[in-house]
Amino acid sequence: MEQKYALDDVLISRGEIEKKTAELAAKVAADTPVSANGKKELIVVGILTGAVFFLTDLVRDLPEEMDVRVDFMSVSSYGNSTKSSGVVRIFHDLKTNIEGKNVLVVEDIVDTGRTFAYLLDLLHSRNPASLRTCVLLDKSARRETEVRVDYCGFNIPDAFVVGYGLDCAGMWRHLRDIRTVREG
Ligand code: PRP
Repeated sequence: MEQKYALDDVLISRGEIEKKTAELAAKVAADTPVSANGKKELIVVGILTGAVFFLTDLVRDLPEEMDVRVDFMSVSSYGNSTKSSGVVRIFHDLKTNIEGKNVLVVEDIVDTGRTFAYLLDLLHSRNPASLRTCVLLDKSARRETEVRVDYCGFNIPDAFVVGYGLDCAGMWRHLRDIRTVREG
């Protein structure tokens, strides 16, 4: 079969990702308020599928004395596949009741911001005690809808990137580095 795309340069190396993830985890931990029980409680919400890779590394960098829970949502934009429509379909919702809880939403990438804006509105309506966001990659130049990014790994240019959770037609999520893709 003809290969339409090929892997190109490393944009962000595994070492850079590791270092940044540890820095972000330290900030998240420091900012999490202490609950009445004396513990720092945090529900970490990952948005399937891409964010899984980043989330699992991020939570393992949080201090063990924190009370950390993990849950996931699976969503997809309606409309054509190349442009996010802003209308989001929920395939799998949280198992956890987040009312009154500290929530951190983790995404691999924010592009137009439409998916994230919809999700944050939805989660906000469930009345968490706090709702923060942590995004590994921010293509801020492409933003169409304002979204709040509390913790950002890397601001990246408008390039097609894969690896560390990011895919090209389902491929290359498993790469340890973040790579650009070229037509080939
Ligand atoms: C990616 C990413 C965000 C969304 C960002 O998900 O994880 O959810 O696109 O785009 P936006 O800011 O323009 O709305 P994708 O639909 O590729 O799903 P995946 O994580 O399963 O690959």
